[in-house]
Amino acid sequence: MSQLTNEERQALIDLANEARRRAYAPYSNYPVGAALRTKSGKLFTGVNVENAAYPTTMCAERTAVFSAVTAGEHEFEVIAVTTENGGTPCGSCRQVLAEFGLDTIVLIADGKGNLVQETTVNDLLPGAFTPEHLVNKK
Ligand code: THU
Repeated sequence: MSQLTNEERQALIDLANEARRRAYAPYSNYPVGAALRTKSGKLFTGVNVENAAYPTTMCAERTAVFSAVTAGEHEFEVIAVTTENGGTPCGSCRQVLAEFGLDTIVLIADGKGNLVQETTVNDLLPGAFTPEHLVNKK
């Protein structure tokens, strides 16, 4: 499917699981880790950050994306997402990933580091609303 080597896949999954240990998830007890690689080869990680006011919580994937954007990076190659049981990215994270490219590869893995699914943002969010729909965009 992608040009990633198994070593590259495993390195990203391991990085996401390493970050996952720092998730702040006292309410759900469902830590999530993400590791994003940009097209320029830079790495960014993210974890879910929960809050006593529950809806204020931020997901791991979006934390990683926002960190990359903060560093000036907008072109992503692959994101690995890890949870204990191989859970998939939520709808909001799919939408945020779609903003920066439908071809971004998404590796979904479990807490033991096993790849559960390799897919793309396009496959996770068919018919996405993207920047191209906004005629006034710069
Ligand atoms: N969560 C993520 O970090 N990413 C997702 O894509 C799904 C859900 C987090 C949010 C919350 O802290 C916990 O998982 C349970 O929903």
